[in-house]
Amino acid sequence: MAVNEQNISDIQHAADIVEIISSYIPLTSHGKNYFGVCPFHDDHSPSMSVSKEKQIYKCFSCGAGGNVFNFVENYENVNFIEAVKIIADKVGINFTTNTKIKKNKNENLYQIMDLAKKFYQNNLNSSEAKNAKTYLKSRSIDENIIKDFELGLALKDKQALSDLLIKKKFTIKDLNELSLINVSGENIYDCFVNRIIFPIHDLEGRVVGFSGRIYEDSDQAKYFNSRESKIFKKGNILFNYHRARDSIKLEKSVILVEGNMDAIRLYENGIKNVVALMGTALTKEQIDIIKKLRVSVILMLDNDTAGYTATYNNGLAFEKAGINCNVVRISDTKDVDEYIIKNGVEALKNNLTNPISFLDFKLNYLKQNKNLNNLEDIISYVKEVLANLKDNDNELVREITLKKISKEYDIDIDILKNSLNITKNSQKEVTNVKKSDKVLECYEKAVQDILYFMMNDSKYIDLYLEDIGYFKEKKYRDIANLIIYYNESFGSINLANFLTYVKINNELADDIESIINNSFIKDLTLDNFKEYLATLKKWNRKEQLQKLNEKLKNENDINEKMAIIKEITKLKREV
Ligand code: UTP
Ligand code: MN
Repeated sequence: MAVNEQNISDIQHAADIVEIISSYIPLTSHGKNYFGVCPFHDDHSPSMSVSKEKQIYKCFSCGAGGNVFNFVENYENVNFIEAVKIIADKVGINFTTNTKIKKNKNENLYQIMDLAKKFYQNNLNSSEAKNAKTYLKSRSIDENIIKDFELGLALKDKQALSDLLIKKKFTIKDLNELSLINVSGENIYDCFVNRIIFPIHDLEGRVVGFSGRIYEDSDQAKYFNSRESKIFKKGNILFNYHRARDSIKLEKSVILVEGNMDAIRLYENGIKNVVALMGTALTKEQIDIIKKLRVSVILMLDNDTAGYTATYNNGLAFEKAGINCNVVRISDTKDVDEYIIKNGVEALKNNLTNPISFLDFKLNYLKQNKNLNNLEDIISYVKEVLANLKDNDNELVREITLKKISKEYDIDIDILKNSLNITKNSQKEVTNVKKSDKVLECYEKAVQDILYFMMNDSKYIDLYLEDIGYFKEKKYRDIANLIIYYNESFGSINLANFLTYVKINNELADDIESIINNSFIKDLTLDNFKEYLATLKKWNRKEQLQKLNEKLKNENDINEKMAIIKEITKLKREV
């Protein structure tokens, strides 16, 4: 990203972090710092502190932290450049984005997609669109929907789009990458032929793919979709997200449906906080997108077995991610689109106002194929519920579930709790693996915390250089080197400015931000720093000892053996 650094730095200095954050959440002053209820996790007490002096914020409950740009980025869920723009507006400084911003390296691809979209849109107004129009009408897809969702038509002519794009001098490679054309020997054909086109946008609202639906009798698949490309990663996209985002925030909930048509139907009927999964399973990235919105989810998938199972699986994923999730199961029709057409939107709204909690859904789901008048089935049901709970770290969910089960089947709650612990213990091996993870975590944490100190004050950079001067992991070594470089170039370092520098210049920004968010150090004192250094050195020594012992085992020469033992003794004395 090549932007005007001075310009951004001016904006940062004109923006007081206390004032900017106050415009989002109430802050109260207390001593040197200001405090507020952290907007980045579910909280009711003021655990976020904002330092006027250091121009940074930090939540000591969830770890969220950074400078004024990071706050706006995370609060508004926008990228760095957009955050700078927002703050520039607030402080009344011109942000000259277009002057020096390097063109996005995929700009070309976005341009092609936009052109293709417009081409398809035009086709829908042509004389060849008669049957397509009839089809759309038969499905109650009116002109408003066509316009709002930028629907289009791929013609029967198998070279209509490719001719146009090649004439415009776009490369075959790019067109192929975007699955707009197929190359077959000498010939080039369109990928989308004789289909209604639904553009797919990324989170920022750029067209990155198409979904094409058949509209005449055909033995081909109902939908043909763009393959993944440099700009289209299915797992990073939720259909309709860019249109729905503001309503989702406003309603504090997002409705998740299966098909694009379901989302379109809801949206056009004024229920705008809706996104579609495009028929796929939820990915980790999609869960992250939803988590960042900090709203609850209403799962309203298709009325079939697949939709039922997907509700269970997706609900579990939300539960695991700590996202509040409710479920609406429609009956009567196959999906939400058909439901609204048949019963009207008011009927659907009734359903939406009465969702069941995912917890209740899950308890019912596990009852499938069981006869709960039968003792054996009850036992197997309770066992399944307990097995399900053992993965759940949420104490409240565990407690409530156990209470429910205890009441429903008149089982003593202590017995259930006991059984839950037994099921947990039978997972001992897994726990052991986790433990060694923890050890690693502890080492990594020391490294990260040392870096955190260094980003805050050059004093700690000097100490690091004197005392260790080297991290064995490349990622952390690179970050340390960047810190050192920054400090030397600018003569000093502070977190607020360093973070902006990183954002503009460096690809390590994500790693550095995660270090900030992982850190819970309250006092940046020399004693504290030395403790982290000591931890780290202890780890390094331990590792060295292990290596030496290994070497000793394999060494046959007695003199060499003695030398190794000497080294080991020396190291041991230091521990
Ligand atoms: P559905 O079969 O539920 O589609 O598949 P739908 O949205 O109800 O479509 P209509 O109403 O028949 O037009 C759900 C989603 O799965 C994907 C599409 O994204 C669709 O929206 N899908 C479905 C495909 O990608 N290919 C297919 O052949 C079918
Ligand atoms: Mn449908």
